[in-house]
Amino acid sequence: MREQYWLNRIMVLALLIVGLTLASCGGGEGPPQPPPPAPPEYADKHMPPDYWNNPDIIAEGKAIFIGAQNIDVNCASCHGKDGKPVKAGARDFRRADWMELYSDSVWFWRISEGVKGTKMKPWKSKLSEDERWKVMAFEATFALKGKKYDPEKKAWVPAN
Ligand code: HEC
Repeated sequence: MREQYWLNRIMVLALLIVGLTLASCGGGEGPPQPPPPAPPEYADKHMPPDYWNNPDIIAEGKAIFIGAQNIDVNCASCHGKDGKPVKAGARDFRRADWMELYSDSVWFWRISEGVKGTKMKPWKSKLSEDERWKVMAFEATFALKGKKYDPEKKAWVPAN
């Protein structure tokens, strides 16, 4: 009897640990979680205004994203060609409720410096600033197509 009791306890604990580990994996499930604010060196960086909703820029960004420009930079290998993650834990760019919590500065910061403790590594050594804005302009089309981030309103608004 007693043994059964402890066995049950251990099972409950084991399930709890598995659950918590999965929940902390980030990724794209569950309610959206706001990202931390951008550090000071990124807080004032903004997308060049004429990049938003610009088909040429978005096409260049796509070439970077899918590894067509540089095979060493293949965002799609984790985030998926259509923004549907193919590696566990990768941010799901199709979720508007999640991505609209990212300002252009925070988004750019994360591409530049990565996310410590995850598979998302810093890309600033492989991509110029300009290329990072372009790839971001493309990523934003998955959920926020036709919108731009307005730093004054602190919100995503129609691009034109
Ligand atoms: C090896 C897999 C992998 C590759 C390649 C990759 N990412 Fe990620 N990316 C991730 C993971 C995992 C996360 C989720 C990190 C977290 O938990 O916050 C992420 C998150 C992000 C985020 C959101 C940051 C956040 O706060 O979670 C952005 C933006 C992003 N990636 C852009 C890119 C871009 C741009 C590229 C290509 C230059 C790229 N990623 C390549 C795995 C990858």
